[in-house]
Amino acid sequence: MTQNQLPTGVERRSFDGRERLATRGKTVYGEPTDGEWRLWDAGRSKLGAMLELGMGTGLSGGESVLYLGAASGTTVSHVADFSGPTYAVEFAPRPVRDLVGVAEDRKNLFPLLKDARKPETYTHVVESDLDVLVQDVATRGQADVAVRNRQFLADDGRLLMAVKARSEDVTSDPGAVFDGVVSRLEDAYEILETERLDRFHSDHLGIVARPK
Ligand SMILES: C[S@@+](CC[C@H](N)C(=O)[O-])C[C@H]1O[C@@H](n2cnc3c(N)ncnc32)[C@H](O)[C@@H]1O
Repeated sequence: MTQNQLPTGVERRSFDGRERLATRGKTVYGEPTDGEWRLWDAGRSKLGAMLELGMGTGLSGGESVLYLGAASGTTVSHVADFSGPTYAVEFAPRPVRDLVGVAEDRKNLFPLLKDARKPETYTHVVESDLDVLVQDVATRGQADVAVRNRQFLADDGRLLMAVKARSEDVTSDPGAVFDGVVSRLEDAYEILETERLDRFHSDHLGIVARPK
């Protein structure tokens, strides 16, 4: 396993005798703390799993971020703890209510009740030339969503994406589903790394890519 460096603002800290990822910020979902550090549980976060598995995310800390599929803010709260401006898109109203509460404690986190398949509905709010696009939408057409949102990324930016096989097709072999997603992504991105996240999230693939 390649151990890439963690971004500034993410550290391995000891929780119950085990080294786990942690960020500094106000607690969000009852996660354990160690002083001002709060546990970032890779079992509850695909991006956390990608970091835990040593994938080359290219994150160094302080990046500008567009996060698609923010849900109630579990992962994006950690992202905002070590990043610059962080735009969080989620289309389900119920989790967005929680997300707004999470953003109250984080001045750099901007929740948007929007559909990630329709980036034209938030181009006027989200800045362009962003450093990072994080995607965890778990919906059919995951590659299309990433391709449509490529417009927000700087040419040297990074796509950090988690693909859930069953969201595309419940019956097909996950490997075949991932091949199809990667192939569609290649219309707009150069794939830098892929890794199965099964140790933490079954039938999920982590992808690191950059715009073509
Ligand atoms: C697996 S959950 C995200 C979990 C979250 N990323 C985390 O780690 O805390 C997927 C989320 O994507 C949202 N989603 C699915 N399709 C979407 C779309 N087209 N636009 C915005 N959000 C979408 C779902 O409502 C759901 O909250």
